[in-house]
Amino acid sequence: MAETKVIVGLGSCGIAAGANKVYNRLKALKEADNLDFELAKTSCIGMCFREPLVEVVDENGSMIYGDVDEDKAIEIIQQHVLGHNPIKEYVVKTDLFPTPDQSYFDGQVKIALRNCGYIDPENIHEYEARGGYQALRKIANEALSPEQIIQTIIDSGLRGRGGGGFPTGMKWRFAHANQSEEKYIICNADEGDPGAFMDRSLLEGDPHAVLEGMIIGAYAIGATEGVIYCRAEYPLAIKRLNIALAQAREHGYLGKNIMGIQGFNFDIFIKEGAGAFVCGEETALMASIEGKRGMPSKRPPFPAEKGLWQKPSNINNVETYANVPYIVANGAESYNKYGTEKSKGTKVFALTGKIKHGGLVEVPMGTPLRDIIYKLGGGIQNDKKFKAVQLGGPSGGCIPEHLIDIQVDYEQVTATGAIMGSGGMVVMDETTCMVDVARFFLDFTQKESCGKCTFCRIGTKRMLEILTRITEGEGQEGDIEKLEELALQVRESSLCGLGQTAPNPVLTTIKYFRHEYEAHIRDKKCPAHSCKKLLTYEIDPNKCTGCTVCAVKCPVKAIDGERKKVHHINQDICIKCGDCYNSCRFDAITKS
Ligand SMILES: Cc1cc2nc3c(=O)[nH]c(=O)nc-3n(C[C@H](O)[C@H](O)[C@H](O)COP(=O)(O)O)c2cc1C
Ligand code: SF4
Ligand code: SF4
Repeated sequence: MAETKVIVGLGSCGIAAGANKVYNRLKALKEADNLDFELAKTSCIGMCFREPLVEVVDENGSMIYGDVDEDKAIEIIQQHVLGHNPIKEYVVKTDLFPTPDQSYFDGQVKIALRNCGYIDPENIHEYEARGGYQALRKIANEALSPEQIIQTIIDSGLRGRGGGGFPTGMKWRFAHANQSEEKYIICNADEGDPGAFMDRSLLEGDPHAVLEGMIIGAYAIGATEGVIYCRAEYPLAIKRLNIALAQAREHGYLGKNIMGIQGFNFDIFIKEGAGAFVCGEETALMASIEGKRGMPSKRPPFPAEKGLWQKPSNINNVETYANVPYIVANGAESYNKYGTEKSKGTKVFALTGKIKHGGLVEVPMGTPLRDIIYKLGGGIQNDKKFKAVQLGGPSGGCIPEHLIDIQVDYEQVTATGAIMGSGGMVVMDETTCMVDVARFFLDFTQKESCGKCTFCRIGTKRMLEILTRITEGEGQEGDIEKLEELALQVRESSLCGLGQTAPNPVLTTIKYFRHEYEAHIRDKKCPAHSCKKLLTYEIDPNKCTGCTVCAVKCPVKAIDGERKKVHHINQDICIKCGDCYNSCRFDAITKS
């Protein structure tokens, strides 16, 4: 048996960065030279910004190497694995010495992500070796009743991680209370928010944790069948879920009389969603599972009463379920010792946008936003100025720079006008136009509206038209007020959360960045120099050397001038593409 293990991170992020090539190269090398090390696979540990990642575990401990390409991988094998001489400058995470990226993990507490990046997600034994299925075993061994499980979840303070933040244990209690021969437990793995990849990553990295959470939920509410609604755009998550389901059935965690509990018969199936944002809404999701068009319907009745196939049902998010086995195995206090008064435990966030360290982090509720962005996220790319962070995707809102010291929990985030949502954090810097951000999110919700409600269908379209014309320099006095009025009506008159929250990005950007709207409308200027139609590119005669590069690059021949003479941009022809600005090596072109 080899003493050294070499593990390659093969989550979607790793694969996108080239990890499959690294893995295949290492496999070929090992087989060709019959090298004595074990080659294994894992998923992402959250450091998406350093993918591909390769971990070497030997008698000294673990070292994770970042930004590994095929050549670097061979170097690591030769020097570290065969030569016992680690290449310290490539190491991004280890407990053996400090690394420049260590701060990414400072302050993180991994509960939902406890196994991600540490196990082979396709190997049930690795899940079991880290305590997997122990919670289920505990229920069987200690003959815990459904009521006891529900009480533990209530005591833990766990709130749904899909966006609404409703107490999970309470939801289970309602579903438990409704008697029926058939009941359903559903996992919402639709995850359609732009900028969110927490659920996908969790399913790719630790599918059994989600299954175990669902099995415990099924026992608690008395469910007979489980469905995972996962968007088809997540093929790796679906593949690993299918493998995990087959293994769980083989090991008796699914099927009849699970863990010897008489009458506890339960199995889980996957329903692939076609990728409509509205299908994340629970009534639309259930309609979609039933083979109908994914359109929301009125509540009550709530799913706990009449859900899938009109039977009592419970829907939770992927991250919510992943927390459950940990809480049951370790007790409610192991979870509620983290967090704030009303927001307990930890929360996973996907850091994206203009942040240096993009990836997944899990922190206790109440962690200051500043710490997430600057300590864990490493600050803003190219050391630009932080402007705002969009939390909660298209249902959320922008939290501006002056509120960076809020503690991130449900209450404080909601007080800013944003929402916690499912945990997507899109970081924006000084070059981001906030009117354009509002336009981007509204464009998304407008396209994703199912069309059932007039205000959601047409109101968002009118709002989008106004926002578009503002970003194109065609804004009119009164547009801001019109947006506010429409926003209110869309919010009040929409049936489901999509329409009710669609105005949030517009309202929060107006609240915190009204001056940017006014500059676009009154001065026809974009303060962030981002809206194309409002830009002017000009050549500074004092700096221009007449090198001609800009004229060559300009796709519409808007630049003229002789070699070694000052060049000139014809504003009537210029399409504001910025190719000249990006090509000038003498800093002679200004953007205003
Ligand atoms: C338009 C819309 C999209 C949603 N998308 C998701 C989603 O992708 N994943 C999710 O878990 N919840 C989503 N939700 C929230 C769910 O409807 C539901 O509240 C959640 O799955 C419940 O699980 P939780 O209590 O564990 O959060 C969405 C809600 C709306 C209105
Ligand atoms: S609010 Fe929008 S997405 Fe929701 S039901 Fe109405 S039209 Fe459909
Ligand atoms: S690329 Fe710059 S220096 Fe060269 S001609 Fe254009 S403006 Fe002048």
